Amino acid sequence: MSIIVIGNTKGGVGKSTNTIQVAIGRAIQGKDVLLVNGDRQSSSSNAIGRRDLAGLTPSVTLVAYPDGEQLRTQVLRQVDKYDDIIIDVGGRDSSAFRHAMMIADVMIVPIAPGNFELDALEDELVPLIDEIQAVRADNPLPIYAFLNMAEPKQFSSDNLATRRSIENFSQFKLLDLNVTKRKSIATASALGLSVTEMKPRDPKAVREVDTLIKALFG
Ligand SMILES: Nc1ncnc2c1ncn2[C@@H]1O[C@H](COP(=O)(O)OP(=O)(O)OP(=O)(O)O)[C@@H](O)[C@H]1O
Ligand SMILES: [Mg+2]
Repeated sequence: MSIIVIGNTKGGVGKSTNTIQVAIGRAIQGKDVLLVNGDRQSSSSNAIGRRDLAGLTPSVTLVAYPDGEQLRTQVLRQVDKYDDIIIDVGGRDSSAFRHAMMIADVMIVPIAPGNFELDALEDELVPLIDEIQAVRADNPLPIYAFLNMAEPKQFSSDNLATRRSIENFSQFKLLDLNVTKRKSIATASALGLSVTEMKPRDPKAVREVDTLIKALFG
């Protein structure tokens, strides 16, 4: 069992998209997955709703706890029932995000290339992480960042510059992978499909999502 929060105080960086890919990807590996929508927005709920409506298996159990206290109590109550609990939070400092960080075993931070993204990390996310880590004290939360919506050219100057800046933060460890901006990833996620289930298959997207899942779960 592990509780994973996919979070960033910045909006629109791909939290819900990657939550969907990781949650369904793990279900396809045979894991019993609980997806927790901790956002008042319903992106991940809608996606799983579409999956259920299409009658696709394996299914992912979906719950929505936009309130932090409720998220914490309900998730801890269900912790033994699932292999993976994956929490999607909104793009801001919220009670759901804070409580998720308190109970998680690991946090994943999608970061999109660009200077505004880096400013937001420094101004909002880093102070929040420092605060939570101080409260967690001798049980620090392991935090991994990765580049999402990366430029298609792996070594594009934007990708490289953003990766270099992320490496300067001691608060997270930068994963040695990028998830590129790909139409197939956006479309699959909105439909509640893993990129592996999309037809036609986009092998590059499949490889990237697979690499992300391997980095998280081994
Ligand atoms: N790797 C990707 N390739 C293509 N499009 C992407 C990718 N990741 C995210 N997107 C697109 O970017 C937009 C924002 O993504 P998403 O909703 O996952 O972000 P978010 O961080 O959950 O946003 P919010 O803070 O509003 O919850 C969506 O239109 C989504 O389809
Ligand atoms: Mg979202």
